[in-house]
Amino acid sequence: MERIKTGIFGLDELTEGGFPAGRSVLVSGACGTGKTIFSMQYIYKGAKDYNEPGVYVTLDERPDLIREDVMRFGWDLKKLEDKNLINIVDGSIAKLGMPSEEEFSLPVTGYDVDKLLLEIMRVIKRIDAKRAVIDSIPALGFNFENSNEVRKAILKVSYMLMRCGVTSILVSEIQEGVNKFGKYGVEEYVVDGVIVLHYMGVGTQSNRTLHIRKMRATKHSEDLHPMEIMNQGIKIHKIEEEYNEV
Ligand SMILES: Nc1ncnc2c1ncn2[C@@H]1O[C@H](COP(=O)(O)OP(=O)(O)OP(=O)(O)O)[C@@H](O)[C@H]1O
Ligand SMILES: [Mg+2]
Repeated sequence: MERIKTGIFGLDELTEGGFPAGRSVLVSGACGTGKTIFSMQYIYKGAKDYNEPGVYVTLDERPDLIREDVMRFGWDLKKLEDKNLINIVDGSIAKLGMPSEEEFSLPVTGYDVDKLLLEIMRVIKRIDAKRAVIDSIPALGFNFENSNEVRKAILKVSYMLMRCGVTSILVSEIQEGVNKFGKYGVEEYVVDGVIVLHYMGVGTQSNRTLHIRKMRATKHSEDLHPMEIMNQGIKIHKIEEEYNEV
């Protein structure tokens, strides 16, 4: 099976070489666990190191703030956007009914998921993207009480991404201590892989961990791996590794 290198330091060796090509992986965690950095690293490294164009759909955070934040890691998104190796689709303020200054965004009138999906497809085709991220699924604004409806909607999103031929990350959120891997408790069944990020918030070290909960067609690590946000991005440690060494 073809694998897509994640660009997350230390992760590919835990998953037989990366994400299964053409599939969707759910990246889930509570607030501040690093989901946005993780998925932007996937897009940035994909473009920079592997020459694979990527589309980042942001529904929570404004693109200009993301660009600014990840400069901390030395990731110059603008430069790759100018080369059409990265496109950011702004769905963040269309939801509020405000115009966006971004090149790729939704019309102000009448936000709806189907319009957003069309725009995502258009941008994916435009740069012939191999990677895509949707940050986040709950922010798509499914307003359904009915978990069957939500399941259908999420299936639609992941089917659309599969049809476009991209390998994608869907970001979702979970509350610590609740036995669900996505907000709705259905995302995890629809996708091919589930990665959960944890933040313990105690002590000074080792308080972030990553767990590969499932990865279809892959013999993956089942351990809780220490995760570190370093100057150059996220690094996943092996559990036997001396944490201070690297
Ligand atoms: N340069 C940095 N070095 C170390 N840690 C950082 C750095 N920048 C951010 N962080 C950590 O990462 C966290 C933010 O990560 P990120 O935005 O990816 O989280 P998230 O899971 O997407 O959060 P949310 O659910 O709010 O969207 C910060 O709260 C901080 O703890
Ligand atoms: Mg985020």
